[in-house]
Amino acid sequence: MKCVDDFRLRLGKHELVPIVIGGMGVDISTAELALVAVRLGGIGHISDAMLPTVSDRPHQTKYVKDKLKQYKYNVDNADKSAVRFDLGLLAEATEHHVRKVMETKRGSGLVFINCMEKLTMNAPKETLRVRLRSALDAGIDGITLAAGLHLGSFALIEDHPRFRDAQLGIIVSSLRALQLFLKKSARTHRLPDYIVVEGPLAGGHLGFGMDWANYDLATILAEIRAWLTAERLDIPLVPAGGIFTGGDAVGFLENGAAAVQVATRFTVAKECGLPDEVKQEYFKASEADIEVNGISPTGYPMRMLKGSPGIGAGIRPNCEAYGYLLDASGNCQYIDAYNREVAAHPGAKKIQVWDKTCLCTHMRNFDIWTCGHYTYRLKDTTRRLPDDGYALLTAEHIFNDYRYSKGNEIALPAA
Ligand SMILES: Cc1cc2nc3c(=O)[nH]c(=O)nc-3n(C[C@H](O)[C@H](O)[C@H](O)COP(=O)(O)O)c2cc1C
Repeated sequence: MKCVDDFRLRLGKHELVPIVIGGMGVDISTAELALVAVRLGGIGHISDAMLPTVSDRPHQTKYVKDKLKQYKYNVDNADKSAVRFDLGLLAEATEHHVRKVMETKRGSGLVFINCMEKLTMNAPKETLRVRLRSALDAGIDGITLAAGLHLGSFALIEDHPRFRDAQLGIIVSSLRALQLFLKKSARTHRLPDYIVVEGPLAGGHLGFGMDWANYDLATILAEIRAWLTAERLDIPLVPAGGIFTGGDAVGFLENGAAAVQVATRFTVAKECGLPDEVKQEYFKASEADIEVNGISPTGYPMRMLKGSPGIGAGIRPNCEAYGYLLDASGNCQYIDAYNREVAAHPGAKKIQVWDKTCLCTHMRNFDIWTCGHYTYRLKDTTRRLPDDGYALLTAEHIFNDYRYSKGNEIALPAA
């Protein structure tokens, strides 16, 4: 019986352990987590979601405070179109964060950054251009284009000196999305170096509708593989979503996948950015505690624990400090939902908003507990503690379990 370590991923001149830790915003996939994968010869992702605020904590910068100060006059205004990101500061924050990670990097693996198109930041094209180019400037090994079709993303960086040497990949959840991306990017004469095919059991936002349960990763992967073969395109495929054991991964690798992308198992790693008490919620979760709902203002369904404190919280929109989900005209679905509830409850001190959530604020504060479908199996990956909690794992332990375990084995940490 084979294990993941019997396979290798070839990307350009690199030969890698075929395990990719997926990007998890906002700072759930920390630099520390990504760097473990790199040290062990795989690929780790950082995320560029809300990087100015992520950077404020370790690097003592004041991006959020300064932005809030600049736009404080607008806090009670329903119209947020004036709240813009300073592109120079956005570049500075991204470059600084990425450069720090790259300086600390040790080992033969690679660090990629997850870049979500849905973070429209009140100027979708301009801000995405800055985010992509700054990450390349700072020496990132690769960029994974996520949460969106990215029809114009290659064009935003085609004149960058690293456009052809950095590893560039895209996450898709259907053949159609891939075809659209390839068609629109053809003008740049560059194919993606890898394609992450994300199925409906993944964490975070889903590239499906609320009928996600009708889809299946292996089927989508087979469809994409058959089409690429017919088109004579040789691009490594990386399935993601619900790959919980080394044995699951081997199943995909034996069927032609180049690597696997995994995330949920790492949410309970010591190096993961979630607070420890939230990691315990992930361990405790049963299948019935997990739902896919429509409260993300992005319009994509999102999987999360039903007990997430951000669900129903009717806080004032925080766009003056954050504003990452403002569309090109300064709108966000949460602002509309919030204003509707305020108007419906005149004079109320506290309101609740159930149909949408202020995702920027709640992701930043770790109050929306997004998770993969198999989060309810995390308790089987560790030992109980005498005080009733579960022992956190090291990222190295989880990575090595994926790498060396066989069949449906899951190695427990040493007692
Ligand atoms: C907590 C969490 C947060 C995530 N955040 C993002 C994200 O910001 N961007 C993204 O493209 N994918 C995100 N994902 C998806 C993962 O990168 C990955 O593709 C997927 O979850 C793999 O499936 P698994 O969790 O079942 O292993 C997230 C997943 C989890 C569990």
